[in-house]
Amino acid sequence: MTLLRDEDLAAAFDHAARGYDALVAVNPGYHAHLRRSVRRLGLPGYGEGLRLLDLGCGTGASTAALRSALPGAHITAVDASAGMLERAAAKPWAQGVSFVHAPAERLAEAGVTGPFDAVFAAYLFRNVADPDAVLTSVRDLLAPGGRLGVHEYTLSGRRADRAVWTLVCRGIVQPAATVLGDGELYRHLWRSVVRFDSADRFADRVGSAGFDRVRTLPLPGWQTGITHTFVARRPGTTA
Ligand SMILES: C[S@@+](CC[C@H](N)C(=O)[O-])C[C@H]1O[C@@H](n2cnc3c(N)ncnc32)[C@H](O)[C@@H]1O
Repeated sequence: MTLLRDEDLAAAFDHAARGYDALVAVNPGYHAHLRRSVRRLGLPGYGEGLRLLDLGCGTGASTAALRSALPGAHITAVDASAGMLERAAAKPWAQGVSFVHAPAERLAEAGVTGPFDAVFAAYLFRNVADPDAVLTSVRDLLAPGGRLGVHEYTLSGRRADRAVWTLVCRGIVQPAATVLGDGELYRHLWRSVVRFDSADRFADRVGSAGFDRVRTLPLPGWQTGITHTFVARRPGTTA
């Protein structure tokens, strides 16, 4: 099976949107880990006056993590799947959150322009056809000194971590997703992770896209060695 990309992936997420929140609710640590990754951006205070971009916001789990740590910021939340975005936008957000239906590859066409003080992308990069191009355009959307936070399934390279990933997908996630009619998307989930960068490789990719201060940070629980936070900075300082 090839990986789902672009319109096919968006259509699969449209269908999966109905069951998405229920599936992640039974994933121990899902929301807490997103909040931890947001805190790792190291943004000041409660984010007053900051402009944040949540790229691949899905049903809003990552948007909620940004909101809870940085309630004073304005968040632009973008997703390529209309179905996922509709679920996100229907949630009760306080002021300061706006949703945009657009692929990460065509943000300017949808009116999403920088500069942003931070871009956060949770579980997005292994889904895009050209992660280098998206990283470069994200860098250009950031203000000088702006932060990048990526929260992603990126295997450590240890065989044991890959085995845990396969066990979790085959034993728990895929059976549940198949009942919901979303088997294809969650087979893509397993495959997209084993084919994507290791954590070290992704950190190198971020550096090659022109970011500095690249750090790779682990997450606790069963996700150790499987999910990482990457934080980095667009070089420069704001005037
Ligand atoms: C696994 S979900 C994660 C959603 C959310 N960030 C979270 O933490 O729960 C990945 C999301 O990325 C979106 N996505 C995938 N490829 C995309 C692209 N090229 N541009 C924009 N969104 C994309 C999907 O539609 C989906 O909603």
